[in-house]
Amino acid sequence: MRLAEPAVAMLTERAPAKVNLALHVLGRRADGYHALSSLVAFAGIADRLALAPGPTLSLTVDGPTATAAGPDDDNLVLRAARTFAALSPGLRAGAFTLLKRLPVAAGIGGGSSDAAAALRLLARLNDLAPDHPAVLEAARCTGSDVPVCLVPRLRMMEGAGETVGPPLALPPLFAVLVNPRVAVETPPVFAALGLERGAMFATTTGRQSAPVDAPAAPDRAALITMLATLRNDLEAPAIQVAPAIADVLAAMRAATGCRLARMSGSGATCFGLFDDCHAAAKAARALAAEHPGWWVKPTMLR
Ligand code: C5P
Repeated sequence: MRLAEPAVAMLTERAPAKVNLALHVLGRRADGYHALSSLVAFAGIADRLALAPGPTLSLTVDGPTATAAGPDDDNLVLRAARTFAALSPGLRAGAFTLLKRLPVAAGIGGGSSDAAAALRLLARLNDLAPDHPAVLEAARCTGSDVPVCLVPRLRMMEGAGETVGPPLALPPLFAVLVNPRVAVETPPVFAALGLERGAMFATTTGRQSAPVDAPAAPDRAALITMLATLRNDLEAPAIQVAPAIADVLAAMRAATGCRLARMSGSGATCFGLFDDCHAAAKAARALAAEHPGWWVKPTMLR
């Protein structure tokens, strides 16, 4: 009698939203990409990706923002999986199911986090370490924000996104994320900076932009004070592309208890930071009531 092979159960991973707490543009490289220095955190709100091991690689997308995610065939989950498989012949894969909750083209790395979750799932299924060279290479090839999403913990990101630092031990932050439900594509925002290849970026004060200093803050209040000295250099060009971002920032700054309001990534999602979860929840309720068309979520960032 032949014993049946033990079935491998469905594997699942969360794909949390990434939030750029600060994003400094340093210049534009010869390859056309922009050199960045960014402090990246991850939110409690996430997409969810499942993998049912099997002979055929496939993807089904479901959930509140599934239709905005575009054709399944073009999804970053499949692109990451195909790249990983090309780098690792014989890689076992299967059928992915993505529960899409995060807004798409929103500056919170939804697609990149989904791709990173796919790589983590494939690494688990194939008994490979999450930092196996093929995982890192597949992440780099799939998109600039994918490497930092591989280990979704607060840390620094440099270069065009290919260089990531170790997780930083800092207090978690209480935040509200707001997206005006305007999809913003990344290339036009970078293009609106107007930098030639090889050019350095000057801040609004005319000074050469400096990298973000990795914070070493003893407590949450000190961390927020330190973050207030930093910026997102893509805010102004993103507002040119999508003026609704300015409305979101103004509404957030006017919210009771908001200590800092800033845009994430290339927009349009903005975040506000609050002293505690009650203040964040209260502000989220008020913003949602005042702007029923906006996507508003209280969440923790870590
Ligand atoms: O790497 P990814 O495909 O996510 O980048 C999308 C686009 O964003 C690039 O084609 C480029 O126009 C722009 N980009 C950039 N500099 C970066 C990251 C992205 O100019 N560091």
